[in-house]
Amino acid sequence: ANIQWYPGHMNKAKNQLEDNLDLIDVLIEVLDARLPVSSRNPMIGQLTKKKPHIVILNKSDLADPIQTKLWTKYFQKEGSFVMSMDAQHNTNMTALFKLIKLAAKEKTEKLEQKGASNPVIRVALAGIPNCGKSTIINRLVGRNAAIVGDKPGVTKGQSWLKTKTNVQILDTPGILWPKFSDQTVGYKLAACGAIKEDIFHADDVALFAINFLKENYTKDLEKFARLNIDQINDLSDPDLLLEMTQNYGMRDDYERFSKFMLLRLRKGRIGRITFDLR
Ligand code: G4P
Repeated sequence: ANIQWYPGHMNKAKNQLEDNLDLIDVLIEVLDARLPVSSRNPMIGQLTKKKPHIVILNKSDLADPIQTKLWTKYFQKEGSFVMSMDAQHNTNMTALFKLIKLAAKEKTEKLEQKGASNPVIRVALAGIPNCGKSTIINRLVGRNAAIVGDKPGVTKGQSWLKTKTNVQILDTPGILWPKFSDQTVGYKLAACGAIKEDIFHADDVALFAINFLKENYTKDLEKFARLNIDQINDLSDPDLLLEMTQNYGMRDDYERFSKFMLLRLRKGRIGRITFDLR
């Protein structure tokens, strides 16, 4: 979905999540592992301080594994429960179920002292569009697609999804807005497909990506550009874009090549690239 964020939308999204926060035991914040800063909602801290909180670095199959390790440590230091995940290819959610139980431990233990056995743990997911929230929910729910039924206080039309454990999931994830702090953040989000590219021209995003790869992922750029580092360094970024366009047989159609390059980049075909470096 191509969501345009306006102050009104942002307020509504925040209020909905705040309302739902009262109903849940654990909030799962889904981030794009390639963009642990840029894909993070700027106000999430205000929401998560009230609840046990798990950070999922999703799409880790597309991200730089060394960076994902560094970011995992960073979020752990911050006091969050954290795990990286490839929700598209990995169906085994055992580790996430364990983490949810750990995050809810305080509440569960209180209830168990009062005599409850295996009390229900309620969780909700939140994150920017396209970060993988629905995919993760489907993985957690698996074949247990049965809906638990409306509960008072839940936004109309929302209900709890059962899993094979005592964890239940709010069926509608919270959709949050990303950072909009500056143009670089916008380019990073566009390069990963986290926002629709038509906010920017494809060639501007491609030029941004070429420059970023040149600085940080030289080997991947050499391979994809079909040029060696000396050839790359001899060219200005726009000339490099034109050279790459020619190397891919697209003559001087750099716009077509830019779109092609972004598709490859977003699918991880240029390499495992993290755009927010720790
Ligand atoms: P959302 O609910 O947060 O909006 O995201 P959703 O689950 O719909 O996932 C968005 C896209 O990202 C989907 O691809 C999905 O398959 C993909 N995806 C989710 N998790 C992962 C992951 O861990 N790794 C990879 N590589 N992909 C993941 P799609 O429907 O094909 O959309 P698109 O690729 O055309 O954007």
